[in-house]
Amino acid sequence: MALSADSIAKDLGTTLVGRQVVYKPVVTSTMDEARCLAVDGAAEGAVVFADAQTAGRGRFRRRWVTPPGESIAVSIIFRPSGEQLPSLSQMGALAAAQAIEAVTGLSVALKWPNDLMVNGRKVGGVLVESDEGGLAILGIGINVALDPESYAETAAATSLALELGREVSRLGLLRRLLQELDRLYSELRSGGDLRTAWADRLRTLGQTIRVQTPTGVEEGLATAVDSHGALILRRRDGSQVKLLAGEVTMQLSTSEG
Ligand code: BTN
Repeated sequence: MALSADSIAKDLGTTLVGRQVVYKPVVTSTMDEARCLAVDGAAEGAVVFADAQTAGRGRFRRRWVTPPGESIAVSIIFRPSGEQLPSLSQMGALAAAQAIEAVTGLSVALKWPNDLMVNGRKVGGVLVESDEGGLAILGIGINVALDPESYAETAAATSLALELGREVSRLGLLRRLLQELDRLYSELRSGGDLRTAWADRLRTLGQTIRVQTPTGVEEGLATAVDSHGALILRRRDGSQVKLLAGEVTMQLSTSEG
């Protein structure tokens, strides 16, 4: 079935996520579209899906490639409490991992903080943009049919179709993703903790890694994550550092040898 606002929303069975669905063939970024929608008064749970993005962005404002018809590029409007906000990106990663596994049978791991990894390569990512007025936009990008070798930005990445050797229905995957988000957000709102499920998927723990942080490079053994998802590194000199944001650029070794 073709992707449309109706085919995405029909009989979705969710309580909050997908109450409103906007489908656009091309946007600059679904993050911008969702922000405009929120400013115009859209309710929590409103979804913006685009077939293509001309200025899709990732963490640290890197370009996120979204060619027509090959990806999932979706943003969802949330109005979380201050306590729920730090869990939103973990919720996005968890929902995406669960949806991909349910629809494709592939196993999904997470690279800290929230890269979606299949067979050691990045297949998707999560971005949260929030403001002081309590608005948070959760953006999720998944390479579904994209050929990673066609773009410099994705040369080291992968796609679901590439890993599976067959096509994957974007509509089926998107609907499942919205259902998983709805379930996890309701869990979060009723005081549930997603941290254990998220941390169980983190393949970064137990590895000696190099991390590019906004203030410099850190190296050490990733020993744990704290209650906000920050990564605890034990440096070679025995000191500890807590990283709130960063990009794991290299795995130097694993503690398993
Ligand atoms: C990352 O891994 O750096 C995060 C990537 C997030 C990409 C998604 S695609 C939908 C939404 N719109 C954007 O411009 N970015 C996010």
